[in-house]
Amino acid sequence: MKLSVNGTPRDVDPSRSPTLLAALRDQLELTGAKLGCDHGECGACTVRLNGDLVYACLTLTAACDGAAVQTVEGLADGGTLHPLQQAFITHDAAQCGYCTPGQLLAAAALLDQRPHPTDDEIRTAMSGNLCRCGTYPKIVTAIRSVADASGASATRADAPPSATGDAP
Ligand code: FES
Ligand code: FES
Repeated sequence: MKLSVNGTPRDVDPSRSPTLLAALRDQLELTGAKLGCDHGECGACTVRLNGDLVYACLTLTAACDGAAVQTVEGLADGGTLHPLQQAFITHDAAQCGYCTPGQLLAAAALLDQRPHPTDDEIRTAMSGNLCRCGTYPKIVTAIRSVADASGASATRADAPPSATGDAP
């Protein structure tokens, strides 16, 4: 069956790799997405499937025929890091790095949908991605920096719910 992976047509055999995570790692040698819990709890395997975040460990390869998949390997633009990748480096948001690919894709999906999230919205959006090294504050700071750099000022975390929308 066929997938579009990071914009490139790829063939995978679902009989060899029942899960999308296995297909990406074992057949396509895209090892950015990681196997953590294997139970849909940690987010280490996060990829985007037709734009939506999914846990690749729980996603059946056979259900993905014709789908567009984005992995962390597809975030950079050639030799130029995605702004989130650079921000994670700048703000030291990765320690062991095992969770980082999933964190980056979750953050990218958030900023695609909501370019100027509050800190609370960042924490909520990232809640499906666990970090055993506990770099959560730095992850929020990194995402915050990209959101702030993209233009409009964002309303910060502690604002009342009625004031948490995008700045005009
Ligand atoms: S390995 Fe998929 S959610 Fe943990
Ligand atoms: S940086 Fe180590 S698990 Fe997140």
